[in-house]
Amino acid sequence: MKKLLLIICLFCFSVAYAADKKTLVHHFNYEEIGTQFKLYDVSGNVVDSSVSSATVIKDENSATGFGNVLHVKVGDVVSYIEFEIPNGLNGTKASSEFHTITFTILRPDGQPEQFKGTFTLSFGNTVSNKTSSAEIDAPVGVEKTLSYSVNKVSSISKKFRIGFNVKNSEYYIDDIYFWSVNYNYDYTDPLQTARYHADQIGKNLGVCVSPNQLNESSREGQTIYRNFNMVVGENAMKFDATEPRRGQFNYSSGDQIVQFAQKHDMEVRGHTLAWHSQTSQWVHDGNYSKKEMLAILKNHIFNVVGHWKGQITEWDVVNEVMAENQGRGVGQGYQLRGKNSGQESVWYDRCGEEFIDSAFVWAHQADPDAILYINDYNIGHWDNHYESGKTHAIYNLAKRLKEDGIPIHGVGMQMHTSISNLRVAEIEKTVQEFEKIGLKCIITELDIPGNNPSSSGEQSTQATQYAGLADIICRYDNAPSMVVWGIADNKSWLENSEATKPLLFEPNFAAKKSYLKIVDTFEKYAVAANVEPVVKDEINPLPAVVDVYNLMGQKVASQMLLEDIETLPAGLYIVGGKKVYIR
Ligand code: G3I
Repeated sequence: MKKLLLIICLFCFSVAYAADKKTLVHHFNYEEIGTQFKLYDVSGNVVDSSVSSATVIKDENSATGFGNVLHVKVGDVVSYIEFEIPNGLNGTKASSEFHTITFTILRPDGQPEQFKGTFTLSFGNTVSNKTSSAEIDAPVGVEKTLSYSVNKVSSISKKFRIGFNVKNSEYYIDDIYFWSVNYNYDYTDPLQTARYHADQIGKNLGVCVSPNQLNESSREGQTIYRNFNMVVGENAMKFDATEPRRGQFNYSSGDQIVQFAQKHDMEVRGHTLAWHSQTSQWVHDGNYSKKEMLAILKNHIFNVVGHWKGQITEWDVVNEVMAENQGRGVGQGYQLRGKNSGQESVWYDRCGEEFIDSAFVWAHQADPDAILYINDYNIGHWDNHYESGKTHAIYNLAKRLKEDGIPIHGVGMQMHTSISNLRVAEIEKTVQEFEKIGLKCIITELDIPGNNPSSSGEQSTQATQYAGLADIICRYDNAPSMVVWGIADNKSWLENSEATKPLLFEPNFAAKKSYLKIVDTFEKYAVAANVEPVVKDEINPLPAVVDVYNLMGQKVASQMLLEDIETLPAGLYIVGGKKVYIR
């Protein structure tokens, strides 16, 4: 009988992994119940526990099942709780290594709704942060993660204090972390990957690939499957690759991508069925009639979509059908790419608009479960941008298709943008507008080149932009995925990409700040969704049916009965946020 040994509290000790970007200060556990923490007033004097107290309790009242917490009861004296600085650091070192402190807070019922107070962080008696915001956004009964910056101070103290300048109030806190910029990101630690957190909240972070990038023993191959949970063929599934000669199909490159994805539990986007570019030369040369062209396209779609039926989650059915320079508003129609718009399109020029409607119908017939997108570039910004007219044009077309009963599910915004062009707030407006008409709106080919990204300022701006887009993906159900168009800065389709640095990884696959900010963003929502490995004590058992991950963050079993976990091969797994060791 295999013994199931739960290794818990691995996160309880103040162990700071050298490679981790966050350092646990304290996670209150059941062995600490009853422990008192020291409190100090604003002048640094100890506050007697008869006035204010901070005691570890088992919180049985809160709806969120907060677990074991530090119960802080502040009396008629503003009181701050004192903790050890992790890793034996003093205030000077801690305030230069850590840039942020976070902790979860829960305010018990019966407290006043308004929790107005200034948060203060000090190392010893030296104040590092005194927030100016008058209101602490921590409504009663709702678990919140609060986050405050750590400002550099000089202090030899090995302790720090936190609290709010409020009197006669109560609150619970738990899971106190310091956060540092992670220079030696450990891509082999699943807990540090965007994929791990994205998986937990059902979102996709994807990357375009070619078969020659999928060698699992290479850092590149490992970076792909460890950090992303979706792939798309950069060229492997395009018309010229899959039907190089009429009626002769070649799936070898696409099959390699699908097999890699299946092995690493990744989803696959299909790109793309009908596009004016990379359509096989025989289609252009054939001088076919409209009827013949439509027959060619139908045959292509049924063969290609049919070949990967059930293996490809979604397809870019048509790509770049919208003309540039639209200047349209919502409801003002659209002009399709074609000779009459000054841009050729073999499909539109030979078939007219109906090839779009037909392509969606055929793709849906070939794989009724596939999610079907229209994909385009220079769309995404709703207002105040040179893209806005084309964004409204693609919106008008997608809306028309949907209203005509065509099986379209969403719009892909390629977003080959740039640091100077991207306005994240305008992208969010577009996602909202598509949400209103029941269509998905995803990011399919993102890259954000800079003008002078060797400057740390541009790297920070790019990181904020990438994180802002990831934040939209996390917040909108109709925006389930974000795909970047390339893995490392020297592997982009863009000219001069080593200089403009458009992607998430360095040429040596070290994670850039942009990637780490995406990790933080997905992690924030995973923690908020309470699916992060917050180790609970024995009293909070695992659910009866669980997903099982290996330490690479790859799902090794879905919806497994708890009692069956013991049947797994011996090893260390992550189950419901706990590290589980099977002998
Ligand atoms: O396969 C041939 C190879 O046999 C030949 O030796 C070689 C020599 O030129 O060319 C190879 O084909 C290249 C193909 O990529 C596959 O590597 C083409 O020349 C090259 O033009 C093509 O570039 C691709 C481009 O689409 C074509 O428009 C890029 O890799 C790809 O990143 C890019 O992706 C597009 C999306 O599909 C749609 N949105 C825009 C995006 C960027 O253009």
